[in-house]
Amino acid sequence: MDEQDWRRFIAAYHHAHPGITEQLFTLADTSPYAWLAEPLHGIEGTVLDLACGSAPTRAELPDADWIGIDLSAAELAEAARQGRKPLVRARADALPTASVSVAAVCAAMCLPVVTPLPRVLGEIRRVLRPGGRLAALVPSQTGLSPSGMLGWLRVMAALRAVRQPWPNPQARDGLAALLRDAGFRVRSDERRVFTLAIGSADAADLLPDALYLPGLTPRRAEAAKRSLARWAAPGRRLELPLRRVVADLPAEQPAQEPI
Ligand SMILES: C[S@@+](CC[C@H](N)C(=O)[O-])C[C@H]1O[C@@H](n2cnc3c(N)ncnc32)[C@H](O)[C@@H]1O
Repeated sequence: MDEQDWRRFIAAYHHAHPGITEQLFTLADTSPYAWLAEPLHGIEGTVLDLACGSAPTRAELPDADWIGIDLSAAELAEAARQGRKPLVRARADALPTASVSVAAVCAAMCLPVVTPLPRVLGEIRRVLRPGGRLAALVPSQTGLSPSGMLGWLRVMAALRAVRQPWPNPQARDGLAALLRDAGFRVRSDERRVFTLAIGSADAADLLPDALYLPGLTPRRAEAAKRSLARWAAPGRRLELPLRRVVADLPAEQPAQEPI
């Protein structure tokens, strides 16, 4: 899938499923958004929530000078419906934000999907002040137990899918290295395995909608929902490994070489 096709797909996907990531994460044993927000508490200055979606991190940073930015009007409408603001509709690779004006960027579940990634990282660097912080949450490919792996095999078999076609797969477990190459100082790079409670048909219903599967037809999605509803049961758990990377810009720009 080329970049144009991906952009068309992701725009249509979030138009059809606003707030889906937040809904899925309500099934988690503890809030991944609270974990992401921890290193941003007490930061003085603007916190920019990049690709904020329905803006679930707003509630985790109640005292912050927060602003949410996303490309999807439907996602922003969902955020507004929940009273989360201010919100701006814009692309992550062309932020309508002054240079060196932001104390921190919060990036929940977005760096593997925003394109083109090098320009997005350049924009994050541009808007952050020296010493500014990036806290990012991304899916991790590692950390599943054998039974956790079986759970996902069951889900993907119902969907007749093998994997999600992330445009930036390197921005998952390789995110820390990417950020170092982009000039950040990585303070921490941690993985945590959350568990989603798939205790009812309603919970199982979220799974086909919450995955980026461009080839998924409505008919196949409905069949998968029926199959997963039969699999759902009290005590059924699905592991969800996530990675949190916290990185700072250097406090001072490196000295320029004399000409
Ligand atoms: C997986 S969702 C995460 C939403 C939210 N941060 C959360 O964790 O619930 C990815 C978000 O990225 C947004 N997005 C995708 N490409 C974008 C782009 N180029 N610029 C801005 N937002 C984008 C989508 O509209 C969507 O809201």
